[in-house]
Amino acid sequence: MYTFLRILAALVLVGVLALVAFIFWPVQTTSPHTDLPADYQVPEGAGEYAMQLADCAACHTAEDGERFAGGRAIESPMGAIYSSNITPDPETGIGNVTLDQFRAALYDGIGKDGAHLYPAMPFANYRKLSEPDVRALYAYFMDEVPAVRNAVTKTNLSFPFNQRWGIRAWKWVALDKAGFTPEFDDAQLNRGAYLVEGPGHCGACHSPRNVFIAQAGYTAADDRFMTGGEIGGWHAPDMREPNSAPQKWAADQLAHWLRTGRNNHAGVSGEMQLVVGESLQYLSDEDVGAMVAYLRHIGRDGPAPETPPARPETPGETEALLASADPGMELGALLYLDNCNACHFVDGLGANEIFPELDGNSLVNAPGGTGLIHIILHGAEMPSTELRPMRLRMPGFAKRLSDDEVATLANFVRSGWSNSAAAIDADAVAALRERRAEAD
Ligand code: HEC
Ligand code: HEC
Ligand code: HEC
Repeated sequence: MYTFLRILAALVLVGVLALVAFIFWPVQTTSPHTDLPADYQVPEGAGEYAMQLADCAACHTAEDGERFAGGRAIESPMGAIYSSNITPDPETGIGNVTLDQFRAALYDGIGKDGAHLYPAMPFANYRKLSEPDVRALYAYFMDEVPAVRNAVTKTNLSFPFNQRWGIRAWKWVALDKAGFTPEFDDAQLNRGAYLVEGPGHCGACHSPRNVFIAQAGYTAADDRFMTGGEIGGWHAPDMREPNSAPQKWAADQLAHWLRTGRNNHAGVSGEMQLVVGESLQYLSDEDVGAMVAYLRHIGRDGPAPETPPARPETPGETEALLASADPGMELGALLYLDNCNACHFVDGLGANEIFPELDGNSLVNAPGGTGLIHIILHGAEMPSTELRPMRLRMPGFAKRLSDDEVATLANFVRSGWSNSAAAIDADAVAALRERRAEAD
């Protein structure tokens, strides 16, 4: 109810502003952040690299679709928004789009026909892209991507969200100023900030939303930036609290996770999989290093310690209970022994790079627990990357376990070892099952 009222209030305000905007001001687009020489040449390979940094493929390629030919449904609270065909096909793609029009899509969210784009296209973040990166992207999409004729499904949200001019007012209240401002005296930290705030658009998922459903904070100067968000039913965890991955993992473990989606603590899942699979695995050592340095620097309590803090002394109760194999033990523990123990073990610590730790795991402890329920029901698979090609799979237990059993098991895991997350109930499990059935 609270969220509903908030959305309603936001809509009324946006509506009033929209009307004013619609009547009075002509649309203006942002000029290049720097002037490049007239004979500027995009360096060899820079185009593809910029595309990988910005993860354009993740959204603009439909499942089983041609690369960049669009049509992927991006879930939003208002309904599905279909990504555009950004191959150089003149009719159904962006073949006739000029450099200035292309920049306007990235910086100002304006499409080739002048329509305002839904913020499912992360122009709120891409407006920080440097001019060399914009040029590189343009060259890549015009010259290196094969044209594919593919007219994508038209996005058709219900009123008032189908009124694209309303997005214009939203942009006024939601967007940060265009361009990237270096804030540190250190080149590596500034590079990391650029990558995370701009092309990486990490904050689009990992930051909370404000009353306008806009990203709350676009730089680390804002305390809300990168402190956790919700996306497609998954929780994108806080990256700044002392117990978060960047603040408690060793720097090289964080780097390894970004590259491969696995390390001695966790495996990648949900909405983060394409980020690793399509984007982060291709980053240079320098860029991964810069991202890691920056993420470790922006901890809420100051920079992360050089050596990670020792794992908290876990009361051995959970381990002892599981090891006792007492047939009279609580149902949650029994279910764990039956279904999970073979891979995640009695200490909940799994095995390096193969079976993730469940003790202290951000996904296990996430508010709402939807990621955990989803994984128990449907399993998970780590993406194949160049460094770690093997896809490791966890089976799903949807057929074997009832809603009550999944909830009991999830609560056992959420309160086992050193975990102490709030309990979830069987209704949450039923809701996720239903959601999956609808998607299939
Ligand atoms: C998080 C998902 C997402 C990512 C990442 C993303 N896009 Fe988009 N993009 C969209 C969606 C959705 C639309 C359509 C929005 C609409 O219909 O209002 C879109 C629209 C566009 C358009 C407008 C096309 C037209 O019809 O004029 C261009 C150009 C574009 N994207 C280019 C890019 C490029 C280049 C990248 C990488 C730098 C990128 N996008 C990354 C989701 C994304
Ligand atoms: C499309 C949404 C999305 C984007 C964009 C995104 N993330 Fe994530 N991220 C998630 C979700 C959801 C999770 C939780 C699932 C998991 O742990 O694999 C996650 C997990 C993580 C984790 C693991 C945390 C842990 O405790 O295990 C790290 C580290 C991370 N993201 C870093 C980043 C960085 C850096 C970027 C930008 C380059 C980024 N993410 C962009 C959605 C996103
Ligand atoms: C056959 C081995 C196996 C079994 C049995 C198994 N898992 Fe997993 N589990 C894995 C693997 C491999 C992954 C990594 C997959 C990924 O992250 O994409 C994983 C990932 C997870 C994750 C996500 C952790 C993270 O860091 O993202 C959770 C939570 C989890 N398992 C819980 C459970 C629970 C609860 C059970 C019992 C119902 C269970 N697992 C049974 C192998 C297994």
